[in-house]
Amino acid sequence: MIGGGYVGLVSAACFAEFGNQVAVVETHPGRLAALRKGEIPIYEPGLDRLVAENIKADRLSFGDDIAHAVEGAEAIFLAVGTPPRNGDGHADLTYVFAAAEQVARAMTGYAVIVTKSTVPVGTGRRISEIVSRLRPELDFDMASNPEFLREGSAIGDFMKPDRVVIGTDTDRPGGAARAQEIMRRLYRPLYVIEAPILFTSLESSELIKYAANSFLAMKISFINEMADLCERVGADVHELARGIGLDGRIGRKFLHAGPGYGGSCFPKDTLALMRIAQEAGASSRLVEATVQVNDARKASMGARIMAACGGNVRGKTIAVFGLTFKPETDDMRDAASIPIIHRLVENGAEIRAFDPAGMTAAKPLLPDHNVTYCVDAPDAATGADAILVLTEWNEFRALSPERLRGLMQGRVVIDLRNIYDPAAMDTAGLDYSSIGRPR
Ligand code: NAD
Ligand code: UGA
Repeated sequence: MIGGGYVGLVSAACFAEFGNQVAVVETHPGRLAALRKGEIPIYEPGLDRLVAENIKADRLSFGDDIAHAVEGAEAIFLAVGTPPRNGDGHADLTYVFAAAEQVARAMTGYAVIVTKSTVPVGTGRRISEIVSRLRPELDFDMASNPEFLREGSAIGDFMKPDRVVIGTDTDRPGGAARAQEIMRRLYRPLYVIEAPILFTSLESSELIKYAANSFLAMKISFINEMADLCERVGADVHELARGIGLDGRIGRKFLHAGPGYGGSCFPKDTLALMRIAQEAGASSRLVEATVQVNDARKASMGARIMAACGGNVRGKTIAVFGLTFKPETDDMRDAASIPIIHRLVENGAEIRAFDPAGMTAAKPLLPDHNVTYCVDAPDAATGADAILVLTEWNEFRALSPERLRGLMQGRVVIDLRNIYDPAAMDTAGLDYSSIGRPR
């Protein structure tokens, strides 16, 4: 497994748990040092136990020596980052191609090279060309096996997936069969639980990943637009989401209105899909609209918060509950908290912030003045003029409105994740606003 980040580490630990022998190659010195000590450099529920058990069982190891890791490997996964390329929205494939070259130089015998990273259509074939150019004599096959796990529930998503997608080079029938056989063995326990395992061409598999993320992002932008409409016409977005979501053709999931989607994948993958379509001469107008709606929504959140605070936040203390882009992760990539807190501080607010897992990652991304990091949510709320909920961690739900009212100096609660009951907040005397619900 080349890359021991969110996807590489989870995939490696889960493949080891399936009974496979897995060697992880990680080049980031801090991450590798932690992994070698048996520490997990990211926050992901259950991962520490799974990694420890599989190290103990001698199925999982970590190092920076790629030659050692690929020696005798039947499958070599590339799970390195594919961040947006500066400025143009394309996926930056620098890490993928560099890893592919390292793998090609290190391989000693046949293996299937698998992209686990999210990569644009055609990348598998380009990797094939790189490997063949560097090592013309080498016998290998290429596969695409995109990952659909979510941070925060990554192990469950990997172990009990809705489906596994495996693309192989169907232009080479013999090679495709050989690669498929190895991939089938790797995922054998999933056949037992009857998880659908879908074999496709390389191109379909690569595009499925972008299409899935873009469709989910589109659902979120849709419900966010509906939330705005609900506010205008006095409807309730929760009732609306349930009312449409119970139609099996629509589905109930991914219909939670909020401050706009963030994270390491939806923002970059929607942009990358637009570029893929543009280069192919195809249209991607729905995805473009999805991105525009999300960007506008994120930009409008600052004004919404200022309005809830009476039009001005200068000199006001705002308690911020949650900094990460979603709960149960320490990942701050493209989190809504970043632009929002910058805007509030620029307008003179004092921030008292708390996040259960993300504060270390948040500090370099947030203003270096006017932000105090608190020990817990009640600490953040103490003496605050307003509370702002940015991430729906369960421990925030458990706080009673009366307790919040008692801790605060002011009465304003702005809940961008709809975790509190408006009636209970009213009863406690709080001035509560949320998303897409009547006041
Ligand atoms: P990440 O940045 O957390 O991890 C990538 C790791 O690869 C880093 O630790 C980096 O040091 C390491 N690395 C880079 N080049 C290397 C090399 N040549 N040799 C060894 N290690 C190397 O990224 P991530 O979030 O795990 O995402 C990886 C890929 O998976 C991306 O394409 C992403 O789009 C996709 N993906 C991510 C998620 C998610 O939830 N984070 C889910 C599905 C798919
Ligand atoms: C997402 C996908 O759900 C995974 O299937 C995919 O593998 C992954 O991207 C990826 O390619 O990296 P993730 O980014 O971990 O997973 O988290 P999600 O739960 O999808 O949330 C993404 C963003 O959408 C968050 O900011 C979240 O708050 C927001 N969201 C999600 C909503 O605003 N409403 C919803 O109903 C769901």
